[in-house]
Amino acid sequence: MSSYAITGASKGIGREFVRQLAANTANTVLAVVRDPESPGISELASKYANVHLIKGDATDPKSLLEAASTAAAITGGTLDVLIHNSNAVDMASAGLSPSQLPFDAEALRAIYDKPLSTAVYGGIWTTNAFLPLIEKGTQKKIVHISSAMADSQLIKTSGISYAVPYAAAKAGMNVQVAKYAAELAPKGIKVLALSPGWVDTWEGEKSPEVQQILEVMLKEFQAVEPELKGQISPEESVGKCLQVIERLDAENSGLLLSQHGNTTKWLRIMQQMPDSSLPLEVRSRILELSEFANLYRAKSPSHPFLASIIAIQNAYKSGQLVVREGMVSYCKWASQYGNGIEEVILLERPTSEEHRLFLSNR
Ligand SMILES: NC(=O)c1ccc[n+]([C@@H]2O[C@H](COP(=O)([O-])OP(=O)(O)OC[C@H]3O[C@@H](n4cnc5c(N)ncnc54)[C@H](OP(=O)(O)O)[C@@H]3O)[C@@H](O)[C@H]2O)c1
Repeated sequence: MSSYAITGASKGIGREFVRQLAANTANTVLAVVRDPESPGISELASKYANVHLIKGDATDPKSLLEAASTAAAITGGTLDVLIHNSNAVDMASAGLSPSQLPFDAEALRAIYDKPLSTAVYGGIWTTNAFLPLIEKGTQKKIVHISSAMADSQLIKTSGISYAVPYAAAKAGMNVQVAKYAAELAPKGIKVLALSPGWVDTWEGEKSPEVQQILEVMLKEFQAVEPELKGQISPEESVGKCLQVIERLDAENSGLLLSQHGNTTKWLRIMQQMPDSSLPLEVRSRILELSEFANLYRAKSPSHPFLASIIAIQNAYKSGQLVVREGMVSYCKWASQYGNGIEEVILLERPTSEEHRLFLSNR
């Protein structure tokens, strides 16, 4: 049994973390929200006995201490995984480049206030409030949801000069995560900054202006990832993020990782999305295979790996495939169809170094 606390859980990625984690009834899921009455999360919580709504604002240290105390009363004083996800920005100035920001102390501070309060100050207060629980937990993992918008190489390649306070705050978050990782390593606590990808969390219909902004962003991101087609769903993003969190260890503690678990590919969407009617565990495995297929395809464009993934999904749906050993089962099964999957059997949950070696040897 594992316990998770997620801040900023009322909507978007935070709420999807709650939904996917709650699907495993062995989990205890603590959704930290500013307004426990908000319909988006209260309706979800009413469906799952293992979800607990806790009032807490990541920008208010006192409320976080109270939230941690409520959490401790529910879990018996422990917490396995803390996910600090809250975020806020000043939308009116989000499109400005650095030289366009106000040359006025009060005005500039006002613009920076929301992202700094949620990502930087909120990162410290949330982590420090829940640290005593994490120290007593089994997994000992702390995750701050960051953004590839704070990656200098992505900024350079995409040419995106706007969203300055947001990117600066996330860069600050990443440094704080590295500092926490350095401090807490002797206690066996792992700390990660995790970029969820470019995710469609817009609520309601998108106005033509919003559509236009997204189209401009897509073109800019395509300078980084030419194959990018658009935003990914919260479901896909969180499915991938949970896999990265599961694999978080002392080796990658302190880093900023993508939803794919690497430090270079921030955006790439899956070539083959798993059918949403499949159980979560099956979808996660297919996403893993899909990501591997992306790497493989770059090296061997004509390889029928993607066709195998489709075949695997169809087999599961028709009852031909029983999942007992996760990815290995899929690969063994697929290999019977002569798709050359045998090689992958050796690479279950490969590290990025194994990926690199495998590809460079081909
Ligand atoms: N969507 C993307 O494409 C994308 C890309 C990269 C990184 N991210 C990161 O992923 C995380 C979640 O993104 P999202 O798109 O799901 O965000 P979102 O829908 O904008 O909401 C994030 C949550 O932050 C909390 N929040 C909002 N304003 C706040 C304020 N003024 N003070 C304190 N808390 C506030 C809210 O939770 P409560 O009301 O429950 O407190 C809200 O549910 C964020 O950290 C974001 O930076 C997102």
